Amino acid sequence: MAKRIAVIDIGSNSARMVIYEKVSRFAFHLLHEEKSKVRISEDAYKHGRVLQEIPMQRTFDALSDFIQISDSFKTKKLFCVATSALRDAPNKKDFIQKVKNKLKLNIKIISGEKEAYFGAIACANLLPPQDNALSIDIGGGSTELAYIDKNSVSHPLSLKLGTVRLKELYFDAGDIQGAIAYIDEQLQKLPFDKVNTLIGIGGTFRAISSSIMKRESYPLNKLHAYEYDISTLQTFLQEILQAKNNKELKSLFIDSNRFDVIQPGTLILQRLINKINISKVITSGVGVREGVYLADLLRNSQHKFPHNYNTSVRYIMDTHVKDKQFANNLNALSKKIFDLTYEYFAIDYKYRYNLALAAKLYPAGSSVHFYSQNKHTYYLITSALEFGFSHHDIMLIATLTKYAKNKLPSKKHLQFYKKLLPQEEITKILSFLLSLSIALLSHRPRNLDFALHFEGDTLHVISSKKLYLAKEAVTKLTCSHQKFKVVF
Ligand code: LMR
Ligand code: MG
Repeated sequence: MAKRIAVIDIGSNSARMVIYEKVSRFAFHLLHEEKSKVRISEDAYKHGRVLQEIPMQRTFDALSDFIQISDSFKTKKLFCVATSALRDAPNKKDFIQKVKNKLKLNIKIISGEKEAYFGAIACANLLPPQDNALSIDIGGGSTELAYIDKNSVSHPLSLKLGTVRLKELYFDAGDIQGAIAYIDEQLQKLPFDKVNTLIGIGGTFRAISSSIMKRESYPLNKLHAYEYDISTLQTFLQEILQAKNNKELKSLFIDSNRFDVIQPGTLILQRLINKINISKVITSGVGVREGVYLADLLRNSQHKFPHNYNTSVRYIMDTHVKDKQFANNLNALSKKIFDLTYEYFAIDYKYRYNLALAAKLYPAGSSVHFYSQNKHTYYLITSALEFGFSHHDIMLIATLTKYAKNKLPSKKHLQFYKKLLPQEEITKILSFLLSLSIALLSHRPRNLDFALHFEGDTLHVISSKKLYLAKEAVTKLTCSHQKFKVVF
């Protein structure tokens, strides 16, 4: 059986577990996720950071269930890390000992720097590559930051700033000025004053991004790699801070689970943005847990995937594409046709990769059902092609597969995803190029059994074979570019 690993993160606010299944060397997928708002740090900050009986019991009970769930998946390993609340607690040993004795679970308390590092390697490996970026994970007890440039991580830093900590020490007493002074003092430790991109990790950031997504009526329902500009964030943070009650927070699309900690979290973020010059924001759906998982998976490769390797593409190929040879032929042919015609169609070379990927993944949907292949491939790409791609990439690749074979993208579709797709004409041409590639492989040759030559407005298909089905399929295609012809 494929190797399954569970990772539990005991945060100061919530405890979460993920279970990942490895399907090939570096390809994996999420089998299960569990979270519980146990808030182990509750009332600790008012009592010298001593963990209190009731929150400890809640955490113990949740862990006990987590272990049972993990066992039900027959996991090979279970990693359990704990962060700020346990790190700071004078009575942490009691809790760790009890869990070890009664649940046979080893909790590993990680340092703030390690925590920052784990979150950052998850982002560096699983988000589209970012230059000159700062990751921030606002937790219940601490805030972790790290510098990320493409796939390398440096300057991990942990600050004693957290949502529950600030709530209990300042917000509950109505001392917002005190909170601001404390945050600003902590932020002096930051070694940066300017980055391109802020990468947001963790529950608080996800809650903020998710609300922004709803307000903006964003067309794609995917939080991981959701991007917006810094001014959108600034405006929204100000509105959250001005909310006077839960009803107003609700109208800002804040989940009721977060009502009591969203303002402290927002204030940390607002003060940070005041101090650092940032231009855009990207949301991460992955964090410490994925970092712990990747540090194990990539232990022999400096915590990096091999060059040109994409784990989500690999996962879809491994689990849904049965005929790899056909997928690879389609991929190679689409690149060939692109290379011959992209200047003629005035299409930027950067779209070559996405066209070729759409070609490679196109057959995936037939693993669900042959007749609705396009629909299933589209769905697989919009949901499972999640790591390493921007939403622009995902939507283009998905759209090309949705309309592959005999249709051009509909007006309605192009309009709905306008924010994420290239100009209509470009999307239509790329869609045509994929359909043409599929048509030319109608007879499913083992290897490409024809040559291509492009001249004037005409693509010549040269072969000693009749290519009967290919010819028939090509006549059914529509190209938005009137003069373009295919001649056999
Ligand atoms: C943490 O403390 O890191 C997490 O519990 C984050 C959260 O707000 O749920
Ligand atoms: Mg955390």
